[in-house]
Amino acid sequence: MTTTVKKRAILDVELIRKDFPVLQLQRYGKPLVYLDNAATSQKPQAVIDALDTYYSSQNSNVHRGVHYLSETATRVYEEARIKVKHFINSPLSCQVIFTRGTTEGINLVAQTYGRKFIGQGDEIIISTMEHHSNIVPWQMLCEEKGAVLRVIPITDDGELMIEEYGKLLNKRTKLVAMGHVSNALGTINPVKQIIDMAHAFHVPVLVDGAQSVGHMHVDVQKLDCDFFVCSGHKMLGPTGIGVLYGKAEHLNAMPPFLGGGDMILSVTFEKTTYNSLPYKFEAGTPNIADAIGLGAAIDYLQQVGMDRIDAYEHELLVYGTDVLQNIDGLRMIGTAREKAAVLSFTLDSAHPHDIGQILDQEGIAIRAGHHCAQPVMQRFGVPATARASLAFYNTKEELDALGRALEKVNEVFA
Ligand code: ALA
Repeated sequence: MTTTVKKRAILDVELIRKDFPVLQLQRYGKPLVYLDNAATSQKPQAVIDALDTYYSSQNSNVHRGVHYLSETATRVYEEARIKVKHFINSPLSCQVIFTRGTTEGINLVAQTYGRKFIGQGDEIIISTMEHHSNIVPWQMLCEEKGAVLRVIPITDDGELMIEEYGKLLNKRTKLVAMGHVSNALGTINPVKQIIDMAHAFHVPVLVDGAQSVGHMHVDVQKLDCDFFVCSGHKMLGPTGIGVLYGKAEHLNAMPPFLGGGDMILSVTFEKTTYNSLPYKFEAGTPNIADAIGLGAAIDYLQQVGMDRIDAYEHELLVYGTDVLQNIDGLRMIGTAREKAAVLSFTLDSAHPHDIGQILDQEGIAIRAGHHCAQPVMQRFGVPATARASLAFYNTKEELDALGRALEKVNEVFA
């Protein structure tokens, strides 16, 4: 993996940490060291306040009332959509669909675009390092339609084998669905190259941005992806809110996902006419409060600056990698040249779950398990890994604490 710091980040991490109430907590009398950011990020006070303000003074249903509160709720909900539009550089805000999260976004595309445009004998390409949410919805579709799932292999470093990908693309390929950053390995995939190669075959590409969007600058127009999905809770926002971005030509051609209120223009028993984008895909009362919370999270990320976040997290990755390399019996799983700040590893001395428990007693929160990426575990011949996943509010001191705690694990299981 990259061992040099690309650019220095100027970011006042101590000041930033004060904005996050959870980071002030203690565990067993020790400061909490939160290194489980790939599972979910912590929330700054500004996001918590946005939810409070909404429920205290703006709460109403959207797109329905003519009264003051409903108009206010509609305005702040739609402003959140505009914030997402600017954040990912969507051409139009109507191409930003609010979902419950990345999983729902992928299922939406599979059940609408997939069911309409993918048939018997067609092929869908994913990779070995996908999260289950970017495997199972496509398997379900393939089972229903008689389509075939093709899987790009990965190297021992956890990098995509691009030449093999090239060989998989053919006239039967109808969709490529690819993680931007692997949650289990940290690999940053060359999605622009993947998209360009697919487009040469007129194949659309869905990018799963769950692990990228809060950590690096994402520009859907520069990527030229056909769909981009992400989750609010991994980018400082609330749980239960996510985003599906799509090119207008696809979104307009797709049938609705769920039927109900707000997604219609008119309903009779003979015929229903569907609403325009984005409402066609937002049936029922949406998750108004959490969309607004996501908007506040985007404001916060932009104030810190995505370039600074990216550079600082890279600095942490380089530092943390050095710390872990000095631990006896530690095997790093995922050593790609382009990596996000995810440190997945095993120890000769202890099972990942035991590592996780001992670290918890030291006040350190990591995830141990298969990370919803069982094919990755199979590829590396391990049942599970311990994973420290970082965010821009983590510090080098916390990584030193991780190193000391892992030495303790080695002593306990010696
Ligand atoms: N996908 C989340 C993770 O990687 C839950 O932990």
